[in-house]
Amino acid sequence: MGKDTPKLSLVVYPASILRKQATIVKTVDGPLIKAADAMFSIMYENHGVGLAAPQVGMSKRVLVIDLRQDDQPIYVMINPRITKREGETEAEEGCLSLPEVFGQVKRAERVEVAYVDREGEERTLLAEGLLARAIQHEIDHLNGVLFADRVAEAQKKLVDQKLRELAESAKQKSKEHAR
Ligand code: NI
Repeated sequence: MGKDTPKLSLVVYPASILRKQATIVKTVDGPLIKAADAMFSIMYENHGVGLAAPQVGMSKRVLVIDLRQDDQPIYVMINPRITKREGETEAEEGCLSLPEVFGQVKRAERVEVAYVDREGEERTLLAEGLLARAIQHEIDHLNGVLFADRVAEAQKKLVDQKLRELAESAKQKSKEHAR
């Protein structure tokens, strides 16, 4: 890997990169594809089904999704944007960057998403069910939004408490490192 592709690893709350607006990808080149492949590896190591680039410390508009468990192809989406939303559905979500946190989140039931694929081709996809949910969750990451921001009111207190615990344990860890 060259200097443009730093070693990527999973980033956990409250890392500030998770709150940043990720930047548009201008060129789909070798280093970008390598980074996407690294994202898949990190996602599989952590038993996830979707991952956004900021979650591996790269603030670029890239996401990967593997929902083969749901009979879907594997997706790399570059500069994805939702162009249509339909319906509403609520289901439980989790996130590799928010370990041990779960909550009910309302999402559009179906979305149309425009994106660039790993070959650099413009694509449009109509998605529903789990895939639609994953796309919305991962695009949120590209905008600095976490599912915890969207949990149902009834669970907000519990989720906020979990977030405080994560922040506290991250603080403890960095103190141990400093020692
Ligand atoms: Ni997530």
